[in-house]
This record gives sequence, structure tokens and C-alpha cells, in this order.
Amino acid sequence: MSAMTDARETLNRLWKPGCDFLGSEVAILGGAMSWVSERNLVSAISNAGGFGVIACGAMTPERLEEEIVATQALTKRPFGVNLITMHPELERLVDVCVAHKVSHVVLAGGVPTSAIIKRVRDGGARAIGFAPALALGKRLVKLGIEALIIEGSEAGGHVGPVSLTVLAQEILPHIKDVPVFVAGGLGRGDAIVSYLEQGASGAQLGTIFAASEESIAHENFKKAFLRANARDAVTSVQLDEQFPVIPVRGLANAGSRGFLKHQAETIRTFQSGGVSKEDAQLSIEHFWAGALRRAVIEGDVENGSVMAGQSVGMVKEVRPVSEIIATLVEQAVEAIAKREDRVHASA
Ligand SMILES: Cc1cc2nc3c(=O)[nH]c(=O)nc-3n(C[C@H](O)[C@H](O)[C@H](O)COP(=O)(O)O)c2cc1C
Repeated sequence: MSAMTDARETLNRLWKPGCDFLGSEVAILGGAMSWVSERNLVSAISNAGGFGVIACGAMTPERLEEEIVATQALTKRPFGVNLITMHPELERLVDVCVAHKVSHVVLAGGVPTSAIIKRVRDGGARAIGFAPALALGKRLVKLGIEALIIEGSEAGGHVGPVSLTVLAQEILPHIKDVPVFVAGGLGRGDAIVSYLEQGASGAQLGTIFAASEESIAHENFKKAFLRANARDAVTSVQLDEQFPVIPVRGLANAGSRGFLKHQAETIRTFQSGGVSKEDAQLSIEHFWAGALRRAVIEGDVENGSVMAGQSVGMVKEVRPVSEIIATLVEQAVEAIAKREDRVHASA
């Protein structure tokens, strides 16, 4: 057997728990991205052998139902739905997923209750959660979560403070009962292999798919991705500890600069007694309302929120999803084969 065939078999073995859990050919999830992860991208990822995930975001249950049905018309393969736990109609959203036999529900944006996890599982879907630290990961598994995603601060969108390099070392050696998928900053198959070797069962990527051919993101949004380097994908800055800002990673632009000015002006007005603390906080929070849609759908990449991870620097062209996944797999296989060569050469 050739070295490449051996390497491919090694890869299949490494991510088998992830593939079995997801029901996909390769253990690569297309991370849910609000406005981007809809029927076209999600079905393209699942049809290419990966695992697409619909971003429910602020959708109503009726709107989510429409999206699930439309996605099912485009793929017979499994895909997931990402629900934000603070959505006011979370239970109804779960019921919509269950009614339409969605196989996996990703519960994002906070620690889900055991009741909501039970609702997902009793309905026959598998429940996936996010672990921002080892203790929380263990707690989620106790609550009934069946797989974890650990997302490093390199990722696009809302991020925690810890890099994937560190989270992986903190969590992977200690969580063995459920599959763990790594996310954040991944743009090549070699990097995915390194985490599989540390015990991960698969990987979740967002940024690379946002710029794919099948992504409905505006041409300007994709062009901004092609132009950007890793260092352009920065997290939002908080000016005053009295006024918390949730860190979001995206491309620096007039909007992000305007956000600093807006915070400074609002804080000054608060200090001079012109606005209450609550109203000042609300004004800061509302600055970005609708901003992701403005960038993704309308193409206003100067004033909108161009959420992107540091892996944006590796996005060099707009490619079909099937090609992106095939390249990631090729790179992973090659990395394993080369590693074998290095080990034998030094023996
Ligand atoms: C434009 C954009 C929007 C995102 N929206 C969401 C979201 O609505 N819910 C969520 O759980 N994660 C969201 N994410 C995070 C992705 O699901 C994924 O975990 C992340 O992109 C992985 O890191 P990477 O961008 O370095 O590949 C978003 C990411 C991007 C780039």
C-alpha cells in the first residue's frame, strides 16, 4: 500500500469518532454564521461530505422552519441547527428542529439548561455545546451534552479570551466521554491533523466557508476577505470597564473606528450627567444592531460588521465548498505522510 493510502487511513481512524457522531464522511463542520449559514452554504457543505450548520440567530420559529425545509430539499445528508440559548423562543425553536427531524442541535451563546438539553435529546436530536473552559466542558457533559466544540479566540464572530492552542491543551486530554471539535483560526488540513492527534474528533471552520462560491455573502464581503491579512481581523475594543463590550472578531474598518468614537462620546455624556448608565450601556450595545446584515447582505463592508477570524489571511480565492473540503483533506493526508517520513528519516 502507498504511503498516501496509509496516511488517508490514519486520518479516517483519527476522526472516526467525529464522523460517526455527525454522520458525515469527513469530520469538518461548517460553523454557523448568522446571515451566511443558510440553505445554500449548509447544503453545499453537507453534500461535499462535511457537516453544515444553519445559523438560527434571531430568526422566528416560522422563519427557521422555512430554512430547515429548504435545506432538506437541497441535501439528503445530515446537517445541524445552531440556536442561541438566550433566544426568547428557544423551546419553540427546539420543537421546530425536532418536528423536522434535524439530527443535531448546537446550543450556543451561554450554558444551556439541562431542561433544554433534555428537550433536544428526547426529541431524537443530538445536543452539542460550547466549552470555553475545562470545568464548563465537564459540567456540560454532566448536563447531557453529547459533543463539545472548543473555539479559540482566533475565530471570527463572538469570541472568548483564550486561544485554541491553549484551550486544546486544557481540555482535550481530559474529556474522553464525548467527541470534541476544535474551532478558531483553522485554514489548513495540517493544523486540523495536529489537533486530531491531541485527541480532537474533528474541526469546525467558519471564515474559510464564508468566502466560498456557494456562500450568499455579498461580493464586497468576499472581496474584503481576499484582501485581508490575519492581523486585520481584530476584536472589538472596550474603552471603559463600567461599560462592557462583548468581544467580536472582525475586519477593522470605518465601523470599528466609529465604535470607539461612539463609546468615547457616550461615556463623556454619561460623565457629564447627560445620560443614565443604563441608557449609555444600551446605546453602546445598539451601535452594531443590524451591522452584520449590512455587511453580509448589503455589502457595506466599511460601516457594517465584517466578522472574520484570523484565518482570513489564508483565504486567497473564492472557491467551491467541495474544493475547499477536498484541499483540507489533501493537506491533512499529506501532513500525516510527511510526518511518517520525518519519523523514519530520523530513526
Ligand atoms: C461572519 C461570521 C458569523 C458568525 N456567526 C456565528 C453565530 O451566529 N453563531 C455561532 O455560534 N458562531 C458564529 N460564528 C463562529 C463560527 O461558527 C465558527 O465557530 C468560527 O468562524 C470558527 O473560526 P474561524 O472563523 O477561524 O474558522 C461566526 C463566524 C463568522 C466568521
